[in-house]
Amino acid sequence: MTRKVLLLLPGDGIGPEVVAQAERVLLAVDATQGSGLQLLRGRVGGAALDVDGCPLPMQTLEAVRGCDAVLLGAVGGPAWADVPRELRPEQGLLALRRELGLYINLRPAFLYPELVECSPLRDAAGLDLVLVRELAGGLYYGEPRGIRTVAGGREGYNTLRYHEREIERVAEYAFALARQRRGRLCSVDKANVLETMELWREVCGRVGLRYPDVALEHLYVDNAAMQMVLDPRRFDVMLADNLFGDVLSDLAGALCGSIGLLPSASLGGQAGLYEPVHGSAPDIAGQDRANPLACILSAALLLRHSLGNETLALQVEAAVQGVLRDGLLPVELGGNLGTAAMGDAVLERLCAG
Ligand code: IPM
Ligand code: MG
Repeated sequence: MTRKVLLLLPGDGIGPEVVAQAERVLLAVDATQGSGLQLLRGRVGGAALDVDGCPLPMQTLEAVRGCDAVLLGAVGGPAWADVPRELRPEQGLLALRRELGLYINLRPAFLYPELVECSPLRDAAGLDLVLVRELAGGLYYGEPRGIRTVAGGREGYNTLRYHEREIERVAEYAFALARQRRGRLCSVDKANVLETMELWREVCGRVGLRYPDVALEHLYVDNAAMQMVLDPRRFDVMLADNLFGDVLSDLAGALCGSIGLLPSASLGGQAGLYEPVHGSAPDIAGQDRANPLACILSAALLLRHSLGNETLALQVEAAVQGVLRDGLLPVELGGNLGTAAMGDAVLERLCAG
C-alpha cells in the first residue's frame, strides 16, 4: 500500500493545540488500522511570517505540492494586525486554497442530540445540513481591488466576479451531494441586486435540469439567514458563494451550539485541505481551553475524502458523539474538559470502539 502523505499546518493561536489532538487521533487510527500515514509538518500564517517572513513560505508550498492532504489549525491574531495586507496571516490561507485549486468547501453543520440545550434556538433538534461554499473565486479574489485616493479622500473597492464555469462546477458538486442526502438543495444568492448573482441563479437552475430528482430552491441571502434561524431543519444542502458561505457558516456553527464543533473540507484540487471553521481564538490560546472537536472532526473528513476510508471516518465521528453522549463537554460548552482532556476522551472511545 502506498503511504498517504499528510501535512500538518498548525498555524496560529489555538491552531497548534487543536491540531495536536487531531494528530493523536490520526496516529491512533493509523496504528490500529494500518492506514499508512506519513505525517509532515509545516508553517503557515503568522507563525510562518515570524520565521520565514511571509505567511505561505516556499518550503510549505513545496510540501503542499507533494502531499495528499493538509490539516490546518487556524491563522491570524492581533500580533499581526498591523502588517501590510499582503503579508497578513489570512493571506497565507487564501493563497493556499487558491494554490491547491480548492473550489469546493464543505461545511457540515449537525446539531448533536446531546447538545440541543447548547443551541441558542429553542427547538433546533434535527438540524443536519451541509453548506457547500464556493472557495476559489468571488469577492475574495476578484480584481481590481484596493484602497485608492480619490477626490476628497480614499475609497476601497473590490470586485465580485464569477465565470459561469466557476458557478457550474461547484453547483454540480452540490447537486450530486444533495442526491446522496435528502434530495434538497438551497442555492443562496442576491440576484435581486447583483448581476453576478443573477448569473449564479441562472447557472444553478441550468445545472439543476440534470438533477430532476433534487428539489432546488433559490433564496436571497438575507432571507436564507432568517430561515436558518426560524427553521434550520428545512435545509439539507445549501450552496453559497465565497462571501455568503463564509457568513452563513458561522451562523450555522452558532446554531449547532458552537462554531468550535464545525469541521470543513476543501476539495476539488490536487490535495484536500481540512480545517476547523473556527478561527485562531488568540484570547484563549495556550490555556488548554480550546475545543479540539472541530479539528478532530476535520480529521474525520480527511479520512473520508482524501484517504477514501469511510469506515475510519465513521469511527472517529462515532467516538466524538460517544464523548458528547457521556456528557464530557469542553469548557466552551459549559463542561470542564480542557483541550488535551477532550482529546483523551475521544481517543479512549476510539480505542474501545
Ligand atoms: C473561514 C475564515 C477565513 C475566510 C479567514 C480566516 C480568511 O473566516 O475559513 O471561514 O474568510 O475564509
Ligand atoms: Mg469564516
